[in-house]
Amino acid sequence: MRTEQPRVIYLKDYQAPEYLIDETHLTFELFEDHTLVHAQLVMRRNPARGAGLPPLVLDGQALELLRASLDDAELQASDYQLEADSLTVQPKAERFTLDTSVKIHPESNTALEGLYKSGKMFCTQCEAEGFRKITYYLDRPDVMSTFTTTVIAEQHRYPVLLSNGNPIGSGPAEDGRHWATWEDPFMKPAYLFALVAGDLWCVEDKFVRQSGRDVTLRIYVEPENIDKCDHAMVSLKKSMRWDEEVYGREYDLDIFMIVAVNDFNMGAMENKGLNIFNSSCVLARAETATDAAHQRVEGVVAHEYFHNWSGNRVTCRDWFQLSLKEGFTVFRDAEFSADMNSRTVKRIEDVAYLRTHQFAEDAGPMAHPVRPDSFIEISNFYTLTVYEKGAEVVRMVRTLLGAEGFRKGSDLYFERHDGQAVTTDDFIKAMEDANGVDLAQFKRWYSQAGTPRLKVSEAYDSAAQTYSLTFRQSCPPTPDKAEKLPFVIPVELGLLDAQGNDLPLRLVGESAAAGSSRVLSVTEAEQTFTFEGIGAKPLPSLLRGFSAPVKLSFPYDRDQLMFLMQHDSDGFNRWEAG
Ligand code: SER
Ligand code: ZN
Repeated sequence: MRTEQPRVIYLKDYQAPEYLIDETHLTFELFEDHTLVHAQLVMRRNPARGAGLPPLVLDGQALELLRASLDDAELQASDYQLEADSLTVQPKAERFTLDTSVKIHPESNTALEGLYKSGKMFCTQCEAEGFRKITYYLDRPDVMSTFTTTVIAEQHRYPVLLSNGNPIGSGPAEDGRHWATWEDPFMKPAYLFALVAGDLWCVEDKFVRQSGRDVTLRIYVEPENIDKCDHAMVSLKKSMRWDEEVYGREYDLDIFMIVAVNDFNMGAMENKGLNIFNSSCVLARAETATDAAHQRVEGVVAHEYFHNWSGNRVTCRDWFQLSLKEGFTVFRDAEFSADMNSRTVKRIEDVAYLRTHQFAEDAGPMAHPVRPDSFIEISNFYTLTVYEKGAEVVRMVRTLLGAEGFRKGSDLYFERHDGQAVTTDDFIKAMEDANGVDLAQFKRWYSQAGTPRLKVSEAYDSAAQTYSLTFRQSCPPTPDKAEKLPFVIPVELGLLDAQGNDLPLRLVGESAAAGSSRVLSVTEAEQTFTFEGIGAKPLPSLLRGFSAPVKLSFPYDRDQLMFLMQHDSDGFNRWEAG
């Protein structure tokens, strides 16, 4: 028997799309036993791919093609090629309009990808490659388009009809049906498309932007859950304010919506202007939900909201770049939670989670770099490495550049790439350019898997009053690579005197101390740093705040750990010593 080999997709094979889609106009006719999707795509040849008109290959799965036309000329079966996962047509001009109508079956879609029914409501999940189960399309994140979406459904069963963007019209239709049209003027890839239809209730509030304009906020739930939305709404408003204050990022549409659905594969999804959440990440009531559940809602609401900039306005060129949006957004939501609650407790929770789960992934057969080189099925790459280690990589950039330098870098990143689909290299380049630094070696965090080991030893010279720390880094082999090149490891540290106070830290050759907690950049396999003016042997507090995702070892004895537990000015390291 012949078994088909799964196809491996490689980052090195990336090519820009042959065609672009400038406008996408969709009409959905929802029925109980099928749905009709009419798509009009305003397309053109991608000028970056040169001259000529190669065949146009659209993605599509489990679609029943009813008709297709190119610039209003109806296509006959001999004019196109239909395969199980594609539709190929031959454009005749550089600019053209393609119309298709397909029939799909959301009522029996149990994969929860594309358009499906959860209970009595219709909803969508298109990341990563679900949109191809809705209509024929260039279902790849570097094809960005504006969208207008009309939804037509039975008024009684589906009084609420939602899609991305701003509402621009609605009204009654024949046979007890009604329609609503939404317009999303921001260019986005298809994975951010969303549609919801159902008998939903909503709580409404508003947010006044820094610039003065109002945004309408709505959270839609099934009627019985209407009393469990307040915490999510408060969390949303806090997130919007925080992103303005900390990143200078304002919301862009007139309305922002969250919908809670019971059947959902992931925690939540950042569809433009219409986030769809697993109910467990929205619903919370003080009487019945724990503090941890409240914090989870706050964190997930923030995460999805923050994607509006880190993911939607600036998106990923291809799925190898997933950490571009996820690592950055996890870092952003962690900092938000730290600001809203206890910074130290949040850091302890995140590090404990990283060590228990991501370190295990990085030490096993599934170990892969934050930016993988190949995949077979992208849905298997929504991993702890891409999300949590990716967030640690962004945190290290901030640790190395400082808060101000990092903000300069993120400002440049958002300004330079607004409306574009980019790579982790572009992200680092913006950080480099805004700060005049070279992060070439640092980028190994994106391309080498495995958890580095950092072995530290000390030497005190009482005559010279110097104290030296020697760092030795190594990284075990992982499936992607046997030999690893040295990483850039930011080590934040302090030196405690006998009273437990942080000593001023002056490295050999420096004219003055640079604070009493500082970041050393370990870049070599073995590297020694020597501090001067140290009158008595100190006790080092290493890797404060867990400044790098490594396994650190230092030969502390029990009394020294007790001392750090009592005196360390860094909360994380007090916990760590315990
Ligand atoms: N893009 C989604 C998220 O991370 C998928 O879970 O928020
Ligand atoms: Zn995310």
